[in-house]
Amino acid sequence: MKKEIKIRPFWYSDVWLFPKIITIITTLDTQGRLNAAPYSHIMQYDVMPKNPRMILGFRQSSHTFENIVATGEFVINCPRADHLDDMMQTARFWPEGVNELEHTGLTTIPSKKVRPPSIAECPQIAECTVDQIVRLDKSSGIVIGKIEALVFDEELIDMDRDERIVAMDLPIGLGDQNRKYYYHAKLHPENIVMHELQEPPDAMRGADTKTTMPWAEDAMKMLMGIPPGVRKMVTEQTEDWVKAKGHDVVTLELFHALAEEQGMGADFFDRFRDERKKKSG
Ligand SMILES: Cc1cc2nc3c(=O)[nH]c(=O)nc-3n(C[C@H](O)[C@H](O)[C@H](O)COP(=O)(O)O)c2cc1C
Repeated sequence: MKKEIKIRPFWYSDVWLFPKIITIITTLDTQGRLNAAPYSHIMQYDVMPKNPRMILGFRQSSHTFENIVATGEFVINCPRADHLDDMMQTARFWPEGVNELEHTGLTTIPSKKVRPPSIAECPQIAECTVDQIVRLDKSSGIVIGKIEALVFDEELIDMDRDERIVAMDLPIGLGDQNRKYYYHAKLHPENIVMHELQEPPDAMRGADTKTTMPWAEDAMKMLMGIPPGVRKMVTEQTEDWVKAKGHDVVTLELFHALAEEQGMGADFFDRFRDERKKKSG
């Protein structure tokens, strides 16, 4: 039998099991002193390249939130599982002005687009500036951060996801009990499973897409190469754009011009080719 429970403070962490990303956020205070602390309340917000953003939640009195409000800049660093002890060092309630990284084996490198430094040992880093701040009443401070740069260890960039997951070795946060005992999972290659997304029997119907104007054959072929989940959105946006430009047929040239304008060049469409099959022959 299922039972409803009372919703208490920190339900998202100590009751609701919410596997999450582990990060260490680096900021500078107004005097230029470095602060570092772990944060997991992080999700993608705007997924398109024009204005890529993440959404984050903070205790409003945390040094990190105060620094972000004061300076408008922060860096999200993702440590490997072998730095979980270092990450927990940075979680302690150190006094204001303490550089938590000095209590760890972690070192800094200059960031590419923002002033707070990045953590050298972290394979995946997002440098951000503030887009919006929302102070929830007697609750979290929400920051919508604009991603100024996504920075990776170079050797990871061209790896397939299965190789990259293993090479990055990012831990998964499993929340805490009593705000004291923090649980984490480490990924072991034998525990990683891959599922291939199958198309519905009638892919076009599954995508619920209808065209409202003629499409040249090669443009339609390109459209059908886009996964059904986003095909409807792409169809509508493309037709709106083509009409606004005064054309009455979607040609491949127009399709590419729109994609280029939205930051989705040829390399974007390459992502939908079946790389795995291509590699194995
Ligand atoms: C794994 C982990 C994840 C955490 N995630 C968050 C979070 O998303 N939001 C938050 O306000 N505090 C979070 N905390 C707690 C802060 O890291 C902690 O309060 C820290 O002392 C804040 O440091 P600061 O004042 O230097 O920012 C987390 C702690 C741990 C260990």
